[in-house]
Amino acid sequence: MNHIINAAVIGCGQMGLHHARVYKSMAGVRLSAICEANEARHKELFDEFGANVYNDIEGMLKAKQEIEAVSITMPDNMHVGAVELAVKYGKHILLEKPIAKNLEDGKRILNLVKNYDKVFTVGHLLRFDPRFNGLKEALDMGDLGEIIHITCRRNSPIVGPRRYIGQSDLSMHVMIHDIDYINWFLKCKPVKVFAKARSILLRENNMNDVIYAIITYENGVIVCMEASWVLPELSPTIIDDQLQLVGTKGVAYIDSCDKGLRFTTDKRSLYPDSRHWPYVNGVPSGDLQAEISGFISAVINNAVPMCSAEEAYRALIVVDAVERSIKEKKEVEIKA
Ligand SMILES: NC(=O)c1ccc[n+]([C@@H]2O[C@H](COP(=O)([O-])OP(=O)(O)OC[C@H]3O[C@@H](n4cnc5c(N)ncnc54)[C@H](O)[C@@H]3O)[C@@H](O)[C@H]2O)c1
Repeated sequence: MNHIINAAVIGCGQMGLHHARVYKSMAGVRLSAICEANEARHKELFDEFGANVYNDIEGMLKAKQEIEAVSITMPDNMHVGAVELAVKYGKHILLEKPIAKNLEDGKRILNLVKNYDKVFTVGHLLRFDPRFNGLKEALDMGDLGEIIHITCRRNSPIVGPRRYIGQSDLSMHVMIHDIDYINWFLKCKPVKVFAKARSILLRENNMNDVIYAIITYENGVIVCMEASWVLPELSPTIIDDQLQLVGTKGVAYIDSCDKGLRFTTDKRSLYPDSRHWPYVNGVPSGDLQAEISGFISAVINNAVPMCSAEEAYRALIVVDAVERSIKEKKEVEIKA
């Protein structure tokens, strides 16, 4: 019989639940355990998954030695501690983005996994999205010529930041998605950032409502990014994201506000997710399923995963520069 991979999810909130459901639905994988700090949810998690539920990461890793692969889906500011434990116990690791909350923690993770003989990858989801992937292929084929400039935006309802108070901020949580895929598209170093932020709705939480950033790459490409997470709670879409990329031979657009399905009732309009983690006939599907499948394939085949620790750290370096530019109110150099 084929080897079954025992997997565990660490932190079973919004994303952890999706990861757990993907593992549960995958052939060749058994969801062996879940670690979730909120004990009030343990019964409901056990009822849904039938896996042992723990409230302490090390306790789980000691008790369930058969675990080979873990998804770390804890808040952004807790990634480093969970990675330390998963490395200590020799697990294959899929870490949700961002790699860490700051450069110090990011560097610590880089060092921990430098010569690690297990798979370590960071879940930069858009690399698994057919739209971003299709554009990457066209760029690699040279179909759009030399890239001149890129504009993108990523806006979402205010329910997100209200869940992340004290744990994260807009640049590392939202803008990092665009930073990562543009680094991946351009295969070139970003060198300078000028960023501005404004906060009204989230000011009392010390979080930015909106950030605009202009990033210059070593090859001269200029990128203009907008990220905001203060759209009304009842916005119809979980993410209103768009991109325009202009090259010397053509232009490309991605428009993901309308997900291809729209409902309007007397109570509200809704454009449900059809791309990131939709459930098709009750089975998890979409980019996240592809990302987790890619992780498990890398484990089985001892292969290089889609996003390395170094690439994830390079995205964090840009986040750091965005934050410095906002504070210093001037264009700043991106650290090498
Ligand atoms: N790829 C994407 O598009 C995407 C989207 C949203 C979130 N994320 C990332 O996923 C991660 C989780 O975000 P989320 O929205 O699921 O957050 P969340 O707050 O919904 O879930 C985090 C869970 O971790 C649990 N937790 C906290 N401390 C713990 C501990 N010590 N041990 C065990 N469990 C613990 C919390 O109780 C909570 O259930 C973050 O890093 C976030 O940036 C990625």
